[in-house]
Amino acid sequence: MKQSIIMDVDTGIDDSLALLYLLASDDAEILAITCTSGNVPAKQVAINNLAWLELCGAPDIEVSLGSEVPVLAPLMTTEETHGPQGIGYAELPAPKRSLSKRHATEVWIDLARRHPGEIVGLVTGPLTNLSLALRIEPELPKLLKRLVVMGGAFNHAGNTLPTTEWNIAVDPESAKMVFDAFSGLPADRRPIICALDVTEQIEMKPEHIAKIAEIAGSTPVEVIAESDVDGTLSSASNKVVKYLSDAVRFYMEFHVSHDQGFLAHMHDPFAAAMAIHPELGETKAATVDVELAGSLTRGQTVADWRGMWGREPNADIVVKVDPPRFFEHLTQRVGDYARRVG
Ligand code: BDR
Ligand code: CA
Repeated sequence: MKQSIIMDVDTGIDDSLALLYLLASDDAEILAITCTSGNVPAKQVAINNLAWLELCGAPDIEVSLGSEVPVLAPLMTTEETHGPQGIGYAELPAPKRSLSKRHATEVWIDLARRHPGEIVGLVTGPLTNLSLALRIEPELPKLLKRLVVMGGAFNHAGNTLPTTEWNIAVDPESAKMVFDAFSGLPADRRPIICALDVTEQIEMKPEHIAKIAEIAGSTPVEVIAESDVDGTLSSASNKVVKYLSDAVRFYMEFHVSHDQGFLAHMHDPFAAAMAIHPELGETKAATVDVELAGSLTRGQTVADWRGMWGREPNADIVVKVDPPRFFEHLTQRVGDYARRVG
């Protein structure tokens, strides 16, 4: 049985690997990719997704443009983290595929109505599109099988401001609206939240890219070395390996320049894996809300672990992960896929 998925993304280096992972997964079917502004503007996000799909010769998955700005906050993007186009040093061939004529909100609503209780919604960017869709169809939380979100930081430092994580910080109003709207669901349908507390443990290292390349049968041996001149491009024979390596190298250079080591936090691929294999993380129920007013803490996700607010839990927060197990799973799938399509 394939798990149907709507991906809402701000592609993004780690969103790119999340996409490759789901394309590689025989137990998943991406019904649509909806694009939001975040890492880079939404139109560029859309181009990136179309380009990856075309590179992989993937099925004709609907790619739809969503909101180009957050509902209230001024847009911020982060080319510094993800590169000028959002995919690091990778320069993917321009896609010939075209964008859907439907807006992202229409796609979310139409698919959820047509497949009630079947679709997992996976959001690895700001929650703008989903919050806009909820205004039109407040029943979305009941129509979806489950929601999986990469976002937030609970007992962990932020990556945007001291207490805020990027996807929430870009559009805090949308995040609050989504957490509120997804309250009151049965325990087995509560949104799964993959926050920095665990996604910063998902450290991709050069050997993981080398492993994907090896499984893909790519030559020569794929080496991303910290001592390389910044921006050194891959000469991998396998095109998926080459562009993935060029993208991830940029992310590793970014992380090392921020004193996090020569590695890349693969937030979004982990969330994608939780969408089809929730056993890859251990969760704990809590009530989550978003600070909108704080002059220092606006955009902070707050988890009430002990029921102090007297509100039912509205989220299953991932509290424990097994990074080696995750990377074994990821590299095998993406490596096999790259061998098939690259
Ligand atoms: C999140 O922010 C983005 O930069 C990444 O793509 C990820 O979704 C991590 O905070
Ligand atoms: Ca993202």
